[in-house]
Amino acid sequence: MEGQLKIERREVLKEKPDFSRLGFGQYFTDHMLIIDYKEGKGWHDARIVPYAPITLDPAAMVFHYGQTVFEGLKAFKTTDNRVLLFRPEKNFARLNRSNDRLTIPQIDEEQVLEALKALISLEKDWIPTEPGTSLYIRPFIIATEPCLGVRASHEYKLMVILSPVGAYYAEGLEPVHINVESKYVRAVRGGTGAAKTAGNYASSIKAQVEAKESGYSQVLWLDGIEQRYIEEVGSMNVFFKIDGQVLTPELNGSILDGVTRDSIITLLKEWGIPVVERKLSIEELHEAYQNGTFEEAFGTGTAAVISPIGELNWLNHKMIINDGKIGELSQKLYDTITGIQTGKLADPFHWVVEV
Ligand code: COI
Repeated sequence: MEGQLKIERREVLKEKPDFSRLGFGQYFTDHMLIIDYKEGKGWHDARIVPYAPITLDPAAMVFHYGQTVFEGLKAFKTTDNRVLLFRPEKNFARLNRSNDRLTIPQIDEEQVLEALKALISLEKDWIPTEPGTSLYIRPFIIATEPCLGVRASHEYKLMVILSPVGAYYAEGLEPVHINVESKYVRAVRGGTGAAKTAGNYASSIKAQVEAKESGYSQVLWLDGIEQRYIEEVGSMNVFFKIDGQVLTPELNGSILDGVTRDSIITLLKEWGIPVVERKLSIEELHEAYQNGTFEEAFGTGTAAVISPIGELNWLNHKMIINDGKIGELSQKLYDTITGIQTGKLADPFHWVVEV
């Protein structure tokens, strides 16, 4: 990245929201980070500026063909006022993998992380400390060249905005009810499912709306070819505890390589709990339910950390999991990950990075 990071401070700071009633992604801090890209010049002009609307040409390619990627990670404040990020290098590595899939130029992961740290330091009063809250960090890149030809843009903007957040789902850690999606698919092999790009989320909304109309919070996604094998739940990775063993769909190119997913697999291995990444069909899950070995199910992601599943509906076969209550393992994983993130528990894997 060319040049030094410039900082333009806001003259009058915004009024902060009530940190005990944040919801998710509704409030934004005083400043944001912007880095521009132009072919021939590379990434340049990194700057922290007051948070404000931006002006783009109506022909900016992101509006027409969706050439864009994003990330999500969190900052936490410890009781002794240190600021911690959770595994940020994994998010920037994944951003570059998404960039590769969307034909967006690679970023310098270390330099962007340094610029992010400068932004977080400036905004540290925006980090809430109430249980279950954090400062959600949303890096994203958009194609900004004005052109209606379908090709890779020659100009981009990388931006990072920050949002103090509470629980992702209104249910919090209350188990959610999920419908197994049998009409729509989220991703196909060879598609963009493993990339964090807007189109995957845009195309998921219709299924979510229809699930809500039938009384469910979200959908369980099956594979795009046979519509049999489990892939994700809502916008999260998914885990099942069956007969003492934890199963999660293997990364197959259409499933997102989640940072929380990876952290959970690492913790389970450390605890000596068998964990297997493999193909898992909805029929196999239903069979486990019928023979009484289906113990727990939960979604995992940065936003919610753990979202326990209390009920799964598959073509009117209802599976009530752990009496609709949060499972012991789900709770232990949530407590351990949030404990490490907030500096309350030891960090044996060196996951947290101090700002
Ligand atoms: C996450 O669980 O972190 C997600 O990806 C959800 C996000 C799109 C809000």
